[in-house]
Formats: sequence, structure tokens, C-alpha cells
Amino acid sequence: DWTMEAFVDRAVGEISGIQGRVLCGVSGGIDSTVAALLIHRAIGDRLHGVFIDNGLLRQDEGDEIEAIFRDNFHVNFTAVSAAERFLEGLRGVADPEAKRKAVGEEFVRVFSEFAERNGPFSWLAQGTLYPDVIESGVSKGPAAVIKSHHNVGGLPDWLDLKVLEPLRDLYKDEVREIARILGVPDRIVRRHPFPGPGLAVRIIGEVTPAKLRVARTASRIVEDVLLEAGVYDDVWQAYAAVGDDRAVGVVGDERRYGSIVMVRVVNSVDAMTADWTRLSHETLERISNRITNEIEDVTWVTYTISSKPPATIEPQ
Ligand code: XMP
Repeated sequence: DWTMEAFVDRAVGEISGIQGRVLCGVSGGIDSTVAALLIHRAIGDRLHGVFIDNGLLRQDEGDEIEAIFRDNFHVNFTAVSAAERFLEGLRGVADPEAKRKAVGEEFVRVFSEFAERNGPFSWLAQGTLYPDVIESGVSKGPAAVIKSHHNVGGLPDWLDLKVLEPLRDLYKDEVREIARILGVPDRIVRRHPFPGPGLAVRIIGEVTPAKLRVARTASRIVEDVLLEAGVYDDVWQAYAAVGDDRAVGVVGDERRYGSIVMVRVVNSVDAMTADWTRLSHETLERISNRITNEIEDVTWVTYTISSKPPATIEPQ
């Protein structure tokens, strides 16, 4: 029986046989959310969900995740506020790969500290999907929900966690179906993918609190306008990036040397290639007007008309 209901029953049955406590890193994305809820259904309070607020998230994202896990699903759940540590690690870092490395290393440190203080844990749960498994060169197992191996994700050896990957035989659309079966709120099921290093890769040059504010607020406006226009679900990702370039504007009768915001909206099937979205002129106008009206520092709004390749989806 290959229905997703049957998958849920089978997975819950298999997971309920494991011994010890499970630590699941929750990002707010659909994959880690579904992995955590599936395991929670199987072992209840032996699951601990941890969400690391790195200060690089979308607007209100941290609060929404906490509400879903703690209030909706009553999962053992901790939100770790670590924004200052991540920003400190990013100070003076402008190179795209160096930024990714700084965020990744800080994540491992914060996660390991949490595991040490709140352990012992026997398992680390991850929302790995089948395409991730293929990409990493590990072959598909015999429909096994549980696969254990050591030392993934750059975590230190002393943690000695076995890995639990309940979604490793599934594709994204199957995970969406399971999310609906488990009662995951619609806004999470629909929400666009978001990169692990977060807004750090949507800010060109050094990540500063001022640029974070612009990227976060402008991105929320882009998402809101697409939702209002009824096209949010038709696109793969939609956001606004910002760098250090400035352009002269005029506000009232004052000259203002403000930021340039780059709006990026793309269509894609698998993120390997992507095409810029032909938004209507009315939608583009609404995005532009709202961004310049609502964010004081922004004078110019541009629309990114490069596809992947040769561009990538994220600017960094
Ligand atoms: P690019 O920019 O390479 O992105 O065209 C392809 C897709 O991957 C996402 N992305 C990431 N996701 N960690 C992630 O979890 C990352 O470091 C990362 N970098 C890019 C990006 O949002 C797009 O959907």
C-alpha cells in the first residue's frame, strides 16, 4: 500500500520501536517540520525539537514556528535566541562562501551546546529527502525509514548521535501530502523554500543590522503583494535582496541618497534551473510603491531579470 496514509502508519510504527531520546533541529521549513511531527506521533515526549534563531530569518518566522510546535502540537520544544552570536560571526565578512561558512560553523556550535546541556540524546533527526540522498551519493535503502550512520552535518564526534531520517525515501510533493495528513498549517505547507544561511545570502557584502532590516521588510512586502495578487503559489521563490549600492532619490523636496533593493521572483521545478517570473506591471508597481513608501532608506527598486543559468536563485 503506497498511499501516504499508509506511509505515515508504517513510519510511526517503525519509529516507535527505537530506544532513547531524539533531538530534531527544526528550521521552520516543511521537511524538518514533518520529520519532527512524524517522530512526535511515534514517541511523544522522547522527541525534543530545537529551533535556532540565527537572526537571519524571515519576518515573524521564529514566533510562528514556536507557536506551531508548542501551542498547536505540544511538542517538547526550545527556541534558542542566538542572533547576536551569528551577527558577531558575520562581522566584516563580505565573501559569499565565507558567509555561508560562518553561519554553518556557528550553527554547529549552538546546536552542539544545546545537545550537551539538554542531553543525553541517542538520535539526531533530520528532514532529509530522497533527492538530497541521491545528491549526497548514498543509494536508496530497502524502503527503510530508519537509517543510522555517524558524523553527519559536521557535528562533533563526542555527540555520538545516530541519525534518523524518516523522509529519506520521499519527494517534496509527498512530504506536502504527509504535512496535510498530519495537520500542518497551510501557510507552512505553502511557504516558499528558504536557504539555510537565510538572509545572509540575500545581502550582498557585509551583513549589518540595517541591511537585514531592509531585506526582511522588503521581502515581506514582496510576499504580501504576491499573496494579494493570487500568484504566490505559482512561483518558486520571491524576495528582495540588498547590497551597498545607493542611488539618489527625492522625498518631499529633500534629496536622499538611499539603498537600492533588488526584487527577485522566479519559477522553477527543482531549483536546478529557474526562470525570472513575468509579473504583471501592476504587481511590480505595487511592490515598488510599497517598498519605497514603507522603508525610509530605500530610494530605488529594481527587478531582477536573469534566469538560472547563468545566474543562481540567491545572489550569494
Ligand atoms: P541557488 O542560489 O544555488 O539556489 O540557485 C538553489 C536553491 O537552493 C536554495 N539554497 C540553499 N538552501 N542551504 C539551503 O538549505 C543553502 O546554503 C542554500 N543556498 C541556496 C535556494 O534558496 C534555492 O531554492
